Amino acid sequence: MRSDEYLIELRDVCVYFTERVGLFGKRVTKALDHVNLGIRDNDVIAVVGESGAGKTTMGRVILGLQRPTSGLALFKGKDIYSLRGREFEEFRRSVQWVPQDPYSSLDPSLTVGEQLMAPIRRWNPKVNAETRAEELLRLVGLVPPSFYMNKYPHQLSGGQRQRVAIARSLASNPRLIVADEPVTMIDSSLRIGFINTFIELMHRSSLSLVFITHDLALARILLLKSGRGRVVILRNGRIVEEGDINEIISNPKDEYTKVLINAAPDLKRWLKNREEGV
Ligand SMILES: Nc1ncnc2c1ncn2[C@@H]1O[C@H](COP(=O)(O)OP(=O)(O)OP(=O)(O)O)[C@@H](O)[C@H]1O
Ligand SMILES: [Mg+2]
Repeated sequence: MRSDEYLIELRDVCVYFTERVGLFGKRVTKALDHVNLGIRDNDVIAVVGESGAGKTTMGRVILGLQRPTSGLALFKGKDIYSLRGREFEEFRRSVQWVPQDPYSSLDPSLTVGEQLMAPIRRWNPKVNAETRAEELLRLVGLVPPSFYMNKYPHQLSGGQRQRVAIARSLASNPRLIVADEPVTMIDSSLRIGFINTFIELMHRSSLSLVFITHDLALARILLLKSGRGRVVILRNGRIVEEGDINEIISNPKDEYTKVLINAAPDLKRWLKNREEGV
């Protein structure tokens, strides 16, 4: 397979953070440890792991925000850090980020409309920014859009703010969105609505999604609803399993996956029902 078939490829990526401890000591954290991952167009990848597993670091490497200590992060077969000019612009446009915390990701001094129109003007100067901003708000379920355009972030709920963050990530017409725990700070009753929004977005455009979560049951819902994709289980910076979610849940190879399954009552119930043929 040619490596430029991947939109993004992580090749043997390590990210090590070295911190000083006391006067002479140092501590090395292996946030990512020999990670290999290929992301194609139309891919859906759920990255699951507990706190500190390296999920955000993996997202940041994909975005070009964190340089690997060793190994390569490639965009269409080229090292992200070697990209210049138009190629770099294409990378920046193609890969977007929905950050973990919608409270700090939006500018409190700008209205929703302004936060959306700025990136639209940057990436699509020919389109009418206001019309496109309203279109994006509608896409993420904030209707009527005119109601939200003049609102400031503090006037919105956490869920609405997160929808604005998703809309903003779409402003450049990306090919891949990396969403870092996009529903963690949202009421559990609203989470499925968010999953549906992501799925609708992927069906409308040939968007790929890397969906980071600590919740294996939520990852399963996303993958089953989207009808494609795979799960990647991350533990201490290493990918310990990768593949079809039902297969991995039914037949976990790594002890850690069993721990994640045990932490998800819905999954345990599903497995029990399957065993009993319900
Ligand atoms: N800039 C940094 N400097 C030092 N250590 C860091 C830095 N960023 C991350 N780490 C460490 O790397 C490891 C992985 O962190 P990361 O934020 O990627 O985990 P995560 O899976 O996203 O966790 P969470 O679910 O809590 O968001 C952690 O041990 C973290 O403390
Ligand atoms: Mg994180």
